[in-house]
Amino acid sequence: MTINYYWLRPFLRLRAIALALRVGLAFAPLIYYWLRPIGLAFAPLIYYWLRPIGLAFAPLIPFRKLYARFLLSRAKHKSLQGHPHIALWIARWVPAYSYSEAEFFSSDSAPPGIENKRREGFERLANLFRQRFPKTIALSAALETGISDLAFVNAHRVPFQYRQYVQDHLKIGSIVDETDGPRVRDMDGNWSYDLGGSYGVNLFGSDFYKRCIDRGVERARKLGLVLGPYHPVIADNVARLKQISGCEEVSFHMSGTEAVMQAVRLAQYHTKRSHVVRFSGAYHGWWDGVQAGIGNPRPARDVYTLKEMHPDTLRVLRTRDDIACVLVNPVQAMNPNGVPASDSALIASDRTANFDRSLYTRWLQDLRDVCTARSIVLIFDEVFLGFRLARGGAQEYFGVKADMVTYGKSLGGGLPVGAVCGKSALMRRYDDSRPMDICFARGTFNSHPYVMATMNEFLRHLDEPDVLAGYEQLDVLWNSRACDLNQRLERLELPVRVANMTSVWTTLYTQPSCYNWMFQYYLRTEGLTMSWIGTGRFIFSHDLKNSDFNEIANRFVAAARAMKADGRWWKNATLTNKAIKRRIMKELFSAALGRAPSDRTTGPAEAIPAPCDTSSRHETGPSESW
Ligand SMILES: Cc1ncc(COP(=O)(O)O)c(C=O)c1O
Repeated sequence: MTINYYWLRPFLRLRAIALALRVGLAFAPLIYYWLRPIGLAFAPLIYYWLRPIGLAFAPLIPFRKLYARFLLSRAKHKSLQGHPHIALWIARWVPAYSYSEAEFFSSDSAPPGIENKRREGFERLANLFRQRFPKTIALSAALETGISDLAFVNAHRVPFQYRQYVQDHLKIGSIVDETDGPRVRDMDGNWSYDLGGSYGVNLFGSDFYKRCIDRGVERARKLGLVLGPYHPVIADNVARLKQISGCEEVSFHMSGTEAVMQAVRLAQYHTKRSHVVRFSGAYHGWWDGVQAGIGNPRPARDVYTLKEMHPDTLRVLRTRDDIACVLVNPVQAMNPNGVPASDSALIASDRTANFDRSLYTRWLQDLRDVCTARSIVLIFDEVFLGFRLARGGAQEYFGVKADMVTYGKSLGGGLPVGAVCGKSALMRRYDDSRPMDICFARGTFNSHPYVMATMNEFLRHLDEPDVLAGYEQLDVLWNSRACDLNQRLERLELPVRVANMTSVWTTLYTQPSCYNWMFQYYLRTEGLTMSWIGTGRFIFSHDLKNSDFNEIANRFVAAARAMKADGRWWKNATLTNKAIKRRIMKELFSAALGRAPSDRTTGPAEAIPAPCDTSSRHETGPSESW
């Protein structure tokens, strides 16, 4: 006999709905927390959509896991940096639009008088650039269609709304053919101070790297290109790196990105855990495994992007069992949880930076303690800062020992390199008891004899008495230089300041403006050359003489004065950073809806006629060294 339970169905359905409602409510705070960055406005709607998913799975998730997920959500920074998946999603949604010529000069609704000043100033800059850099600009433009990197950096120097007009009228070149101390010469014979620092490689001055390469090539020439067997100079490099890092083993790679890849892979291999913790905004090279969010089309798996300098993160490290390693990029101490500042995002004046050595030391100590207690591998990624803060790098400067350290950039003495130093137990790539279980890492050009020889020149230089003495004075020297410049800027009522972590500087702006990104062009007219992220980062070499620094400071002040005179820092009570951002949001929504507010063009800007030739007008006089 079969029993028919159909009559029970309505009761079961009712019970299911009641249970679903109860669990749904339990999920509410969590879902609210996840949705916070998207904006509270949408939260109730999205919560309503997501509820059924949560309801279906809720009974299957044990409470402990739920709690761990909750802690993880809390440890994410509230900005988009802390939510790489959402950032990626938003980046795909943000529509392109360009300002018309009129908006280009008055996107902050400045009155006609100010707009005219800006227009005249812009034309003056454009003419100056055309006259001063014709060959450099022409060669760069010709290369732009052939070198994809050049096209990318040229497209990302300024906020995208202003990009088209700048590209049409204020072209700059990126070709140089000679250095002389801290200065670099372009194709038109103009000498300028190089504040780009070769992405951080240039620590001891361009002449030093010329010497390293010359001597290194000389020492390795007899062997030439033989890969596989090592040049004997490698032994001294290993000994020196072991001593500097306090680690037991070293492996060589061809770039910083590869060094980070190897360190993370080893940590995962030895801990048998899957996840890497990196901090919001920190850069560790462009490998998928550590680059989450905008820039990486593949959603990064196995990566937790957490808040730096925050107890919520320590709580996650204390409670989760799937974390293999924590990656620290010490340059983030300048601006924890923020991306490396770039002028392409400088749409308002709310860029912040403030390096507090003792606070960051305490943070690293806390990280060290929790990593030790939980057997998590603590990796210092010193590719950028290594040897800049101290001979023993960030480990020595902050007095905290890592389990693994990655180096690169300057270590190669001017040639490309990456290196990992670590404890023997972590560096081992095979397991004696399981012969098939290996951690693979190769690289055709790693330990290249020429690189090993130039590296040796670099490492031996670190032990020279004047270099060691220089490290002692580092903070005092660079902090006082930054402080003097700031005092001068304040006295002159110029709304620009600098913040620094020894010889790595960034500019800050004290007055709301949507034109701060133009400062990079004023600096160029004064003979100061930056990397493509503009005033976001100045990297000085440690051999910079006081006389050169004073000249750079004079030019910096002159550039700020010219920019102020051109009406770029127009003051108005309604012009706040918030108001600027609100306007941008409105424009984005309009563009997404296909509407063009006022005479704004969506998509690429229409061709705009070149400004008239005003070469007879006043020019910011080139300094003597041009
Ligand atoms: C901290 C850090 N890690 C890794 C890298 C990647 O190094 P590379 O560009 O040599 O691959 C960089 C590069 O800027 C870096 O700053």
